[in-house]
Amino acid sequence: MLTGKKITLGITGGIAAYKTAELVSGLVKNGADVRVVMTASAQKFIQPQTFSALTGNEVYTDIFHSSHQSGVLHINLAQDADLLVVAPATANIIAKAANGIADDLLSTIILAANIPVIMCPAMNTVMYRKPVVQMNIQKLKEYGTSFVGPSSGKLACGAQGTGRMSEPDEILEAIKNFFNPDLKGLNVLISAGPTREPLDPVRYITNRSSGKMGYNLARAAAERGANVVLVSGPVNLLPPERVELIKVETAEQMYKVMKEKFLETDIVLKAAAVADYRPKIMAGEKIKKDNDSLTLEMVKNPDILLELGKMKRHQMLVGFAAETNNVEEYARKKLEQKNLDMVVANNVSETGAGFDVDTNIVTIICRDGRIKKLPIMSKYNAAHRILDEIIKYRGEKAVE
Ligand code: PMT
Repeated sequence: MLTGKKITLGITGGIAAYKTAELVSGLVKNGADVRVVMTASAQKFIQPQTFSALTGNEVYTDIFHSSHQSGVLHINLAQDADLLVVAPATANIIAKAANGIADDLLSTIILAANIPVIMCPAMNTVMYRKPVVQMNIQKLKEYGTSFVGPSSGKLACGAQGTGRMSEPDEILEAIKNFFNPDLKGLNVLISAGPTREPLDPVRYITNRSSGKMGYNLARAAAERGANVVLVSGPVNLLPPERVELIKVETAEQMYKVMKEKFLETDIVLKAAAVADYRPKIMAGEKIKKDNDSLTLEMVKNPDILLELGKMKRHQMLVGFAAETNNVEEYARKKLEQKNLDMVVANNVSETGAGFDVDTNIVTIICRDGRIKKLPIMSKYNAAHRILDEIIKYRGEKAVE
Protein backbone atom coordinates (compact mmCIF):
# COMPACT_ATOMS: atom_id res chain seq x y z
CA MET A 1 0.00 0.00 0.00
CA LEU A 2 2.95 2.34 0.63
CA THR A 3 5.30 0.65 -1.82
CA GLY A 4 7.75 3.10 -3.31
CA LYS A 5 6.75 5.90 -0.93
CA LYS A 6 9.64 7.74 0.66
CA ILE A 7 8.89 8.97 4.17
CA THR A 8 11.15 11.12 6.32
CA LEU A 9 10.20 10.48 9.92
CA GLY A 10 11.32 12.91 12.63
CA ILE A 11 11.39 11.80 16.27
CA THR A 12 11.60 14.31 19.11
CA GLY A 13 12.14 13.86 22.82
CA GLY A 14 9.05 12.44 24.42
CA ILE A 15 8.27 9.17 26.15
CA ALA A 16 6.00 8.31 23.20
CA ALA A 17 9.19 7.91 21.11
CA TYR A 18 9.15 4.20 22.00
CA LYS A 19 5.77 3.89 20.22
CA THR A 20 7.35 5.31 17.06
CA ALA A 21 9.23 2.02 16.66
CA GLU A 22 5.88 0.29 16.10
CA LEU A 23 4.87 3.00 13.63
CA VAL A 24 8.12 2.65 11.69
CA SER A 25 7.73 -1.13 11.65
CA GLY A 26 4.19 -0.74 10.24
CA LEU A 27 5.37 1.71 7.57
CA VAL A 28 8.18 -0.62 6.49
CA LYS A 29 5.84 -3.66 6.41
CA ASN A 30 3.57 -1.67 4.11
CA GLY A 31 6.46 -1.07 1.71
CA ALA A 32 7.55 2.46 2.63
CA ASP A 33 11.17 3.55 2.49
CA VAL A 34 11.60 5.29 5.85
CA ARG A 35 14.47 7.56 6.76
CA VAL A 36 14.53 8.45 10.43
CA VAL A 37 15.82 11.70 11.91
CA MET A 38 16.21 11.93 15.69
CA THR A 39 16.77 14.98 17.87
CA ALA A 40 19.28 14.81 20.72
CA SER A 41 16.42 14.51 23.25
CA ALA A 42 14.76 11.70 21.28
CA GLN A 43 17.94 9.66 21.67
CA LYS A 44 17.56 9.84 25.47
CA PHE A 45 14.35 7.81 25.09
CA ILE A 46 15.25 5.30 22.38
CA GLN A 47 18.43 4.30 20.57
CA PRO A 48 18.98 5.16 16.87
CA GLN A 49 20.03 1.51 16.32
CA THR A 50 16.42 0.42 16.82
CA PHE A 51 15.38 2.48 13.81
CA SER A 52 18.32 1.58 11.61
CA ALA A 53 17.50 -2.10 12.27
CA LEU A 54 13.81 -1.55 11.48
CA THR A 55 14.31 0.54 8.33
CA GLY A 56 17.57 -0.84 6.98
CA ASN A 57 18.60 2.80 6.55
CA GLU A 58 21.04 5.01 8.37
CA VAL A 59 19.47 7.14 11.14
CA TYR A 60 20.27 10.85 11.01
CA THR A 61 20.99 12.72 14.22
CA ASP A 62 23.28 15.56 13.33
CA ILE A 63 23.19 18.34 10.77
CA PHE A 64 26.94 17.92 10.40
CA HIS A 65 26.52 14.23 9.65
CA SER A 66 29.88 12.62 8.80
CA SER A 67 28.75 10.60 5.77
CA HIS A 68 27.01 13.55 4.07
CA GLN A 69 27.84 17.04 3.05
CA SER A 70 25.88 19.06 5.60
CA GLY A 71 24.29 21.29 2.99
CA VAL A 72 22.84 18.36 1.09
CA LEU A 73 21.59 16.17 3.91
CA HIS A 74 18.77 18.33 5.22
CA ILE A 75 17.67 19.28 1.72
CA ASN A 76 17.56 15.62 0.67
CA LEU A 77 15.55 14.60 3.70
CA ALA A 78 13.22 17.59 3.31
CA GLN A 79 12.65 17.50 -0.41
CA ASP A 80 13.53 14.07 -1.75
CA ALA A 81 10.62 12.36 0.01
CA ASP A 82 6.85 12.12 -0.43
CA LEU A 83 5.96 12.95 3.15
CA LEU A 84 7.52 14.26 6.36
CA VAL A 85 6.05 12.89 9.60
CA VAL A 86 7.04 14.09 13.07
CA ALA A 87 6.07 11.61 15.79
CA PRO A 88 6.13 12.37 18.62
CA ALA A 89 6.09 16.12 18.07
CA THR A 90 6.88 17.96 21.30
CA ALA A 91 5.69 21.49 22.12
CA ASN A 92 9.28 22.54 21.41
CA ILE A 93 9.45 21.28 17.81
CA ILE A 94 5.96 22.65 17.14
CA ALA A 95 7.08 26.06 18.41
CA LYS A 96 10.24 25.96 16.30
CA ALA A 97 8.34 24.89 13.19
CA ALA A 98 5.68 27.58 13.70
CA ASN A 99 8.30 30.29 14.06
CA GLY A 100 10.86 29.30 11.47
CA ILE A 101 13.57 28.30 13.92
CA ALA A 102 16.14 25.92 12.43
CA ASP A 103 18.76 25.09 15.04
CA ASP A 104 19.24 21.35 14.58
CA LEU A 105 18.81 18.77 11.83
CA LEU A 106 15.08 18.09 12.29
CA SER A 107 13.97 21.72 12.64
CA THR A 108 16.10 22.59 9.59
CA ILE A 109 14.46 19.80 7.60
CA ILE A 110 11.01 21.07 8.59
CA LEU A 111 11.92 24.58 7.46
CA ALA A 112 13.37 23.29 4.19
CA ALA A 113 10.45 20.96 3.48
CA ASN A 114 8.47 21.46 0.29
CA ILE A 115 6.58 18.20 0.86
CA PRO A 116 3.44 17.62 2.98
CA VAL A 117 4.03 17.49 6.74
CA ILE A 118 2.07 15.52 9.35
CA MET A 119 2.73 16.23 13.04
CA CYS A 120 1.67 13.89 15.84
CA PRO A 121 1.82 15.96 19.03
CA ALA A 122 2.59 14.45 22.43
CA MET A 123 2.92 16.48 25.61
CA ASN A 124 1.50 17.07 29.06
CA THR A 125 -2.11 18.18 28.96
CA VAL A 126 -1.43 21.55 30.63
CA MET A 127 1.26 22.28 28.05
CA TYR A 128 -1.07 21.24 25.24
CA ARG A 129 -3.81 23.56 26.45
CA LYS A 130 -1.49 26.59 26.79
CA PRO A 131 -2.67 29.34 24.44
CA VAL A 132 0.84 29.71 23.03
CA VAL A 133 0.94 26.02 22.03
CA GLN A 134 -2.54 26.21 20.54
CA MET A 135 -1.51 29.34 18.68
CA ASN A 136 1.55 27.57 17.23
CA ILE A 137 -0.58 24.60 16.16
CA GLN A 138 -3.11 26.93 14.57
CA LYS A 139 -0.35 28.77 12.75
CA LEU A 140 1.08 25.52 11.37
CA LYS A 141 -2.39 24.38 10.25
CA GLU A 142 -2.77 27.66 8.38
CA TYR A 143 0.62 27.02 6.74
CA GLY A 144 -0.68 23.60 5.60
CA THR A 145 0.67 21.18 8.20
CA SER A 146 -1.69 18.32 9.09
CA PHE A 147 -2.07 17.00 12.61
CA VAL A 148 -2.90 13.52 13.83
CA GLY A 149 -3.93 13.60 17.49
CA PRO A 150 -3.15 14.06 20.27
CA SER A 151 -5.61 11.71 21.93
CA SER A 152 -6.89 11.66 25.49
CA GLY A 153 -6.09 9.25 28.27
CA LYS A 154 -3.47 8.60 30.93
CA LEU A 155 -0.26 10.51 30.25
CA ALA A 156 3.29 9.43 31.11
CA CYS A 157 3.38 11.99 33.94
CA GLY A 158 0.37 10.28 35.55
CA ALA A 159 -2.07 13.05 34.61
CA GLN A 160 -5.27 12.34 32.72
CA GLY A 161 -6.21 14.43 29.71
CA THR A 162 -5.43 15.35 26.13
CA GLY A 163 -1.80 15.07 25.08
CA ARG A 164 -1.10 11.40 24.37
CA MET A 165 0.45 10.71 21.00
CA SER A 166 -2.08 8.89 18.79
CA GLU A 167 -1.61 5.15 18.69
CA PRO A 168 0.82 3.90 15.98
CA ASP A 169 -2.02 2.15 14.09
CA GLU A 170 -3.98 5.41 13.95
CA ILE A 171 -0.97 7.30 12.59
CA LEU A 172 -0.30 4.52 10.08
CA GLU A 173 -3.95 4.66 8.98
CA ALA A 174 -3.70 8.44 8.51
CA ILE A 175 -0.52 8.04 6.43
CA LYS A 176 -2.13 5.36 4.25
CA ASN A 177 -5.15 7.60 3.77
CA PHE A 178 -2.88 10.49 2.84
CA PHE A 179 -1.48 8.43 -0.06
CA ASN A 180 -4.77 6.78 -0.97
CA PRO A 181 -7.72 9.12 -0.29
CA ASP A 182 -10.37 6.61 -1.39
CA LEU A 183 -13.29 8.91 -0.56
CA LYS A 184 -11.84 11.86 -2.44
CA GLY A 185 -14.50 14.04 -4.04
CA LEU A 186 -17.41 12.28 -2.31
CA ASN A 187 -19.87 14.23 -0.18
CA VAL A 188 -20.47 12.46 3.13
CA LEU A 189 -23.20 13.53 5.53
CA ILE A 190 -22.89 12.28 9.11
CA SER A 191 -25.14 12.79 12.11
CA ALA A 192 -23.77 12.43 15.62
CA GLY A 193 -24.68 12.81 19.25
CA PRO A 194 -28.01 13.00 21.01
CA THR A 195 -30.93 15.30 20.37
CA ARG A 196 -32.32 17.48 23.14
CA GLU A 197 -36.09 17.86 23.36
CA PRO A 198 -37.08 20.84 25.54
CA LEU A 199 -39.72 20.66 28.27
CA ASP A 200 -39.41 24.25 29.39
CA PRO A 201 -36.70 26.93 29.07
CA VAL A 202 -34.33 25.05 31.43
CA ARG A 203 -35.16 21.35 31.10
CA TYR A 204 -34.96 18.82 28.31
CA ILE A 205 -35.18 15.11 27.51
CA THR A 206 -32.07 13.55 25.99
CA ASN A 207 -29.99 10.34 25.97
CA ARG A 208 -26.46 9.17 26.73
CA SER A 209 -24.91 9.58 23.27
CA SER A 210 -21.54 11.35 23.53
CA GLY A 211 -21.12 11.86 19.78
CA LYS A 212 -17.84 9.88 19.76
CA MET A 213 -18.94 7.35 17.13
CA GLY A 214 -20.19 10.03 14.74
CA TYR A 215 -17.22 12.34 15.28
CA ASN A 216 -14.78 9.49 14.63
CA LEU A 217 -16.65 8.65 11.42
CA ALA A 218 -16.36 12.30 10.38
CA ARG A 219 -12.65 12.36 11.18
CA ALA A 220 -11.99 9.10 9.33
CA ALA A 221 -14.02 10.15 6.26
CA ALA A 222 -12.23 13.52 6.10
CA GLU A 223 -8.85 11.78 6.39
CA ARG A 224 -9.87 9.64 3.40
CA GLY A 225 -10.52 12.73 1.31
CA ALA A 226 -14.31 13.13 1.63
CA ASN A 227 -16.10 16.46 1.90
CA VAL A 228 -17.76 15.90 5.25
CA VAL A 229 -20.76 17.65 6.74
CA LEU A 230 -21.25 16.70 10.38
CA VAL A 231 -24.69 17.42 11.84
CA SER A 232 -24.25 17.23 15.57
CA GLY A 233 -26.49 17.32 18.60
CA PRO A 234 -25.05 18.89 21.76
CA VAL A 235 -21.76 17.16 22.70
CA ASN A 236 -18.48 18.02 24.41
CA LEU A 237 -16.17 17.22 21.52
CA LEU A 238 -13.95 19.29 19.28
CA PRO A 239 -14.91 19.03 15.62
CA PRO A 240 -12.45 17.05 13.50
CA GLU A 241 -10.29 18.95 11.04
CA ARG A 242 -11.56 19.70 7.53
CA VAL A 243 -15.16 18.96 8.50
CA GLU A 244 -18.13 21.31 8.15
CA LEU A 245 -19.92 21.22 11.51
CA ILE A 246 -23.61 22.11 11.79
CA LYS A 247 -24.85 22.19 15.37
CA VAL A 248 -28.46 21.31 16.14
CA GLU A 249 -30.43 20.59 19.30
CA THR A 250 -33.73 18.91 18.51
CA ALA A 251 -34.72 16.03 16.22
CA GLU A 252 -36.77 18.42 14.11
CA GLN A 253 -33.74 20.70 13.60
CA MET A 254 -31.61 17.67 12.69
CA TYR A 255 -34.28 16.52 10.22
CA LYS A 256 -34.40 19.93 8.52
CA VAL A 257 -30.61 20.10 8.02
CA MET A 258 -30.27 16.47 6.90
CA LYS A 259 -33.06 16.92 4.36
CA GLU A 260 -31.48 20.12 3.00
CA LYS A 261 -28.07 18.47 2.59
CA PHE A 262 -29.33 15.09 1.37
CA LEU A 263 -29.67 15.79 -2.37
CA GLU A 264 -26.03 16.76 -2.82
CA THR A 265 -24.79 13.85 -0.67
CA ASP A 266 -23.24 10.57 -1.82
CA ILE A 267 -23.08 8.73 1.51
CA VAL A 268 -25.13 9.27 4.68
CA LEU A 269 -24.09 7.81 8.03
CA LYS A 270 -26.63 8.25 10.81
CA ALA A 271 -24.82 7.60 14.05
CA ALA A 272 -26.93 10.08 16.02
CA ALA A 273 -29.21 8.84 18.76
CA VAL A 274 -32.36 10.74 17.85
CA ALA A 275 -35.15 11.08 20.41
CA ASP A 276 -38.16 9.15 19.12
CA TYR A 277 -40.57 11.42 21.04
CA ARG A 278 -40.66 15.04 22.21
CA PRO A 279 -42.88 16.79 24.73
CA LYS A 280 -46.07 17.94 22.97
CA ILE A 281 -45.83 21.35 24.56
CA MET A 282 -42.74 23.29 25.53
CA ALA A 283 -43.74 25.40 28.55
CA GLY A 284 -42.96 29.08 28.06
CA GLU A 285 -41.90 29.43 31.70
CA LYS A 286 -40.05 27.08 34.04
CA ILE A 287 -42.50 24.37 35.19
CA LYS A 288 -43.25 24.81 38.91
CA LYS A 289 -43.28 21.89 41.35
CA ASP A 290 -46.78 22.75 42.64
CA ASN A 291 -48.27 19.28 42.06
CA ASP A 292 -47.30 15.86 43.46
CA SER A 293 -47.10 14.37 40.00
CA LEU A 294 -46.54 15.62 36.50
CA THR A 295 -47.82 13.96 33.35
CA LEU A 296 -46.07 14.74 30.12
CA GLU A 297 -47.71 14.20 26.79
CA MET A 298 -45.16 13.17 24.17
CA VAL A 299 -45.55 13.23 20.41
CA LYS A 300 -43.56 11.33 17.83
CA ASN A 301 -40.52 12.96 16.21
CA PRO A 302 -39.90 12.52 12.51
CA ASP A 303 -37.95 9.34 11.80
CA ILE A 304 -35.18 11.10 9.87
CA LEU A 305 -33.66 7.96 8.41
CA LEU A 306 -37.01 6.61 7.30
CA GLU A 307 -37.75 9.89 5.51
CA LEU A 308 -34.31 9.94 3.86
CA GLY A 309 -34.91 6.33 2.80
CA LYS A 310 -38.02 7.51 0.92
CA MET A 311 -36.07 10.33 -0.77
CA LYS A 312 -33.14 8.07 -1.73
CA ARG A 313 -31.87 8.18 -5.33
CA HIS A 314 -28.11 7.65 -5.86
CA GLN A 315 -27.24 8.05 -2.18
CA MET A 316 -25.88 5.25 -0.04
CA LEU A 317 -27.74 5.23 3.26
CA VAL A 318 -26.11 3.77 6.35
CA GLY A 319 -28.06 3.57 9.60
CA PHE A 320 -27.00 2.55 13.06
CA ALA A 321 -28.99 0.27 15.32
CA ALA A 322 -28.57 0.50 19.06
CA GLU A 323 -30.01 -2.72 20.42
CA THR A 324 -29.87 -4.66 23.68
CA ASN A 325 -31.15 -8.03 22.43
CA ASN A 326 -31.75 -9.89 19.13
CA VAL A 327 -29.30 -7.39 17.68
CA GLU A 328 -29.01 -8.78 14.15
CA GLU A 329 -32.70 -9.49 13.75
CA TYR A 330 -33.78 -5.98 14.81
CA ALA A 331 -30.99 -4.38 12.79
CA ARG A 332 -32.11 -6.22 9.64
CA LYS A 333 -35.66 -5.04 10.23
CA LYS A 334 -34.44 -1.45 10.35
CA LEU A 335 -32.48 -1.99 7.15
CA GLU A 336 -35.66 -3.13 5.37
CA GLN A 337 -38.10 -0.65 6.95
CA LYS A 338 -35.90 2.38 6.34
CA ASN A 339 -34.66 1.38 2.86
CA LEU A 340 -31.01 1.34 3.99
CA ASP A 341 -27.99 -0.01 2.12
CA MET A 342 -26.18 -0.91 5.28
CA VAL A 343 -26.83 -0.99 8.99
CA VAL A 344 -24.22 -0.90 11.74
CA ALA A 345 -25.55 -2.73 14.76
CA ASN A 346 -24.14 -2.27 18.22
CA ASN A 347 -25.28 -4.16 21.26
CA VAL A 348 -25.31 -1.25 23.69
CA SER A 349 -25.62 -3.55 26.71
CA GLU A 350 -22.14 -5.03 26.07
CA THR A 351 -19.17 -3.62 28.00
CA GLY A 352 -17.04 -1.47 25.69
CA ALA A 353 -19.84 -0.91 23.16
CA GLY A 354 -22.36 1.79 22.40
CA PHE A 355 -23.00 4.97 24.34
CA ASP A 356 -20.34 7.20 25.85
CA VAL A 357 -17.30 4.90 25.62
CA ASP A 358 -14.20 5.17 23.43
CA THR A 359 -14.63 1.69 21.95
CA ASN A 360 -17.37 -0.11 20.08
CA ILE A 361 -18.29 -3.66 19.04
CA VAL A 362 -20.15 -3.50 15.76
CA THR A 363 -21.75 -5.83 13.27
CA ILE A 364 -22.05 -4.45 9.75
CA ILE A 365 -24.99 -5.82 7.76
CA CYS A 366 -25.36 -5.03 4.05
CA ARG A 367 -28.53 -5.06 1.99
CA ASP A 368 -27.09 -7.87 -0.14
CA GLY A 369 -26.96 -10.08 2.97
CA ARG A 370 -23.23 -9.75 3.67
CA ILE A 371 -22.42 -9.48 7.33
CA LYS A 372 -19.21 -8.54 9.11
CA LYS A 373 -18.78 -8.91 12.85
CA LEU A 374 -15.95 -6.84 14.29
CA PRO A 375 -14.26 -7.36 17.65
CA ILE A 376 -13.96 -4.59 20.23
CA MET A 377 -11.84 -1.70 18.92
CA SER A 378 -11.53 2.07 19.25
CA LYS A 379 -14.38 4.03 17.68
CA TYR A 380 -11.76 5.54 15.33
CA ASN A 381 -10.72 2.11 14.07
CA ALA A 382 -14.36 0.97 13.89
CA ALA A 383 -15.09 4.09 11.80
CA HIS A 384 -12.39 3.12 9.31
CA ARG A 385 -13.61 -0.47 9.12
CA ILE A 386 -17.16 0.80 8.44
CA LEU A 387 -15.82 3.08 5.68
CA ASP A 388 -13.87 0.12 4.22
CA GLU A 389 -17.15 -1.81 3.93
CA ILE A 390 -18.90 1.19 2.38
CA ILE A 391 -16.20 1.47 -0.29
CA LYS A 392 -16.40 -2.26 -0.99
CA TYR A 393 -20.21 -2.09 -1.26
CA ARG A 394 -20.14 0.93 -3.59
CA GLY A 395 -17.46 -0.77 -5.72
CA GLU A 396 -19.56 -3.91 -6.11
CA LYS A 397 -22.68 -1.88 -6.95
CA ALA A 398 -20.73 -0.03 -9.63
CA VAL A 399 -19.80 -3.25 -11.45
CA GLU A 400 -23.23 -4.89 -11.16
O1 PMT B 1 -22.48 8.83 20.52
P1 PMT B 1 -21.73 7.69 21.21
O2 PMT B 1 -21.67 7.86 22.71
O3 PMT B 1 -20.39 7.43 20.59
O4 PMT B 1 -22.60 6.35 21.00
C1 PMT B 1 -22.73 5.79 19.74
C2 PMT B 1 -24.16 5.29 19.47
C3 PMT B 1 -24.48 4.13 20.38
C4 PMT B 1 -25.17 6.41 19.71
C5 PMT B 1 -24.17 4.86 17.96
O5 PMT B 1 -23.24 3.84 17.75
C6 PMT B 1 -25.56 4.36 17.56
O6 PMT B 1 -25.92 3.20 17.68
N1 PMT B 1 -26.41 5.30 17.05
C7 PMT B 1 -27.81 5.03 16.73
C8 PMT B 1 -28.60 5.08 17.98
C9 PMT B 1 -30.08 4.94 17.73
O7 PMT B 1 -30.79 5.89 17.87
O8 PMT B 1 -30.46 3.78 17.29
P2 PMT B 1 -31.99 3.44 16.92
O9 PMT B 1 -31.95 1.96 16.79
O10 PMT B 1 -32.94 4.04 17.89
O11 PMT B 1 -32.22 4.15 15.52
C10 PMT B 1 -31.90 3.49 14.29
C11 PMT B 1 -31.42 4.49 13.26
O12 PMT B 1 -32.48 5.41 12.95
C12 PMT B 1 -30.23 5.33 13.70
O13 PMT B 1 -29.35 5.47 12.61
C13 PMT B 1 -30.86 6.67 14.10
O14 PMT B 1 -29.96 7.76 13.86
C14 PMT B 1 -32.06 6.74 13.16
N2 PMT B 1 -33.20 7.49 13.71
C15 PMT B 1 -33.84 7.07 14.83
C16 PMT B 1 -34.94 7.78 15.29
C17 PMT B 1 -35.37 8.91 14.59
N3 PMT B 1 -36.41 9.63 15.01
N4 PMT B 1 -34.71 9.32 13.49
C18 PMT B 1 -33.65 8.60 13.02
O15 PMT B 1 -33.05 8.99 12.00
